Amino acid sequence: MTEVADPTRIITIERHILDEQRAHPEATGTLTSILYDIALAAKFIASRTTRAGLVDILGSTEDTNVQGERVMRLDRIADQVMIRLNDHTGRLAVMASEEHEHIIPIPKKYPVGKYVLMFDPLDGSSNIDYNASIGTIFAIFRRKSASGRGKLEDCLQPGKDLVVAGYLIYGSSTMLVYTSGAGVHGFTLDTQLGEFLLSHPNIRIPQKPKYYSCNQGYQANWSVGVARYTQYLQGLADGGSSLSLRYIGSLVGDFHRNLLAGGVYYYPADNRDPALPTGKLRLLYEAAPLAFIAHQAGGYGSDGRQDILNIEPISLHQRTALFIGHRGLVEKAEEYIRTYDQ
Ligand code: AHG
Ligand code: MN
Ligand code: MN
Repeated sequence: MTEVADPTRIITIERHILDEQRAHPEATGTLTSILYDIALAAKFIASRTTRAGLVDILGSTEDTNVQGERVMRLDRIADQVMIRLNDHTGRLAVMASEEHEHIIPIPKKYPVGKYVLMFDPLDGSSNIDYNASIGTIFAIFRRKSASGRGKLEDCLQPGKDLVVAGYLIYGSSTMLVYTSGAGVHGFTLDTQLGEFLLSHPNIRIPQKPKYYSCNQGYQANWSVGVARYTQYLQGLADGGSSLSLRYIGSLVGDFHRNLLAGGVYYYPADNRDPALPTGKLRLLYEAAPLAFIAHQAGGYGSDGRQDILNIEPISLHQRTALFIGHRGLVEKAEEYIRTYDQ
């Protein structure tokens, strides 16, 4: 059993979100229930990811997703768990997932609600076979359409209109980190209890950054501004101080580390790859929810020229360049891009 020095200090995720709800007398409890549904989905996904090497879910399927990438089987499982646990509750108007080309309507036999749930069911999937951290990212908006089944327009909302954003990280432990606009809070799954317990209240990005995280193998494809910015982070230009490089290749893992330790993550546009003229990461499932979290933790997310949260999406799977984490370092990236990349 888990050792609890003082049981009066235990805060389960349910207790925490109910407390947050009480701060909003107008709240109906629907959002609280959606978060709880996501936490439950996360327990399923976590239980599968930690057994990935033991059961027949390793390897990729024959399919490619709408991004043209290989779909690993665990992506599909995570995707189906998220849909299964959220499609029937009457709390959602529509869903969208990185793994589906089109919006995911709520089945006709179930009632609809006022919220929109978008997710990247498994982020960092290229790491599945190698036991490195992977995650799930989720974003919740209020619907825009007045009634009926939700539509595409309900999903195409800028990050500044997010109601809740969060992620799960399946690492050396499983954590759920979320914000509903009142700070960023982290919960660790106690596997013996099967409960998420508050372990990281009010996360703030440290003032003094420690890490920079990017796929430096692609540096030859970056703009002059981004290359020069990288030199700054290495202490090789313009009086920058040298930071350590850490890169897993799993956005959730890289973001989470930098959120707690202090640092910046970036995935710039790739000038030589015609498929990635504006970057690789998806605005709605990756960049916007994490930018909302960064913002709530005192940090910032930018596409190099503007606040990610202000970008009005025009398509479901829109990609973007992303610079995210420590506010001063992200603003520095914008400065370099402004100066060197016209
Ligand atoms: P996903 O597994 O959902 O497709 O996302 C992968 C993303 C992101 O998690 C990561 O930061 C990035 O791809 C890594 O890309 P590179 O291998 O090009 O560095
Ligand atoms: Mn992803
Ligand atoms: Mn994914």
